[in-house]
Amino acid sequence: MLEEEYQKRRRLPRHLRPAPEPERPFAYEIRPAETRDIADIREIYNYYVTNSVVTFDEKKWTHRQWAEKYAHIRKLGLPFLVAVSPSGQVLGYALVSPWSGKSSYRYTAENSIYLGPSATGKGLGRALLTALIEASEEFGLRQMVAVISDKGAEGSIALHEKMGFEEVGRMGRVGYKFGRWLGTVYLQKQLTPVKKKRGLFGRRAD
Ligand SMILES: CC(C)(COP(=O)(O)OP(=O)(O)OC[C@H]1O[C@@H](n2cnc3c(N)ncnc32)[C@H](O)[C@@H]1OP(=O)(O)O)[C@@H](O)C(=O)NCCC(=O)NCCS
Repeated sequence: MLEEEYQKRRRLPRHLRPAPEPERPFAYEIRPAETRDIADIREIYNYYVTNSVVTFDEKKWTHRQWAEKYAHIRKLGLPFLVAVSPSGQVLGYALVSPWSGKSSYRYTAENSIYLGPSATGKGLGRALLTALIEASEEFGLRQMVAVISDKGAEGSIALHEKMGFEEVGRMGRVGYKFGRWLGTVYLQKQLTPVKKKRGLFGRRAD
């Protein structure tokens, strides 16, 4: 018998092979982001900086930049959520930041949502965005805006539309990355604040 034939026969018959490990369910917990999550958040974001045009950033963010952004959002009291696996790995994050520093925009925020590449397409985006909307409504926000690349972000546009965001405008050729021009799609969702009218910058509507 040739050696390669012998190798083939060493495979056990099906009924004697050990049963494959059952596929683990995709489990996660959604909670407010903490300082210890910053390294994972940065890694997720930088993956898309380097490999995609879903963000118009071209340079990876440093840990310090993320720490400053985290501190700013926390100081304003705005939602910044993470989805974490049972082993503590950050699978994705979602946050809102002020739409503008001008005070009349105090009830309007821009959202941002990124999942690690292996966590996409399993319903986590919907769960995280749902939690972000709820937390934003609790905060007292009235409008959420998503600014999405018009190329390579079909999943994000689909997710936002499914969550009730409506396209309100587009800008063409405002970005240039990886040697091609990119535009932006603006989607907006009206929120229903559940509590008192609290906006950004410590101001109230009435
Ligand atoms: C965009 C992103 C947050 C979506 O999250 P996700 O977990 O992959 O999406 P989900 O599995 O929750 O899908 C939500 C809905 O959108 C739909 N959808 C998702 N991707 C889609 C695609 N590429 N085309 C069409 N529909 C899509 C799903 O069918 C689903 O619909 P349903 O809830 O009615 O079944 C995630 O894919 C991601 O982080 N992508 C890379 C980073 C990115 O693009 N971030 C946004 C920058 S603006």
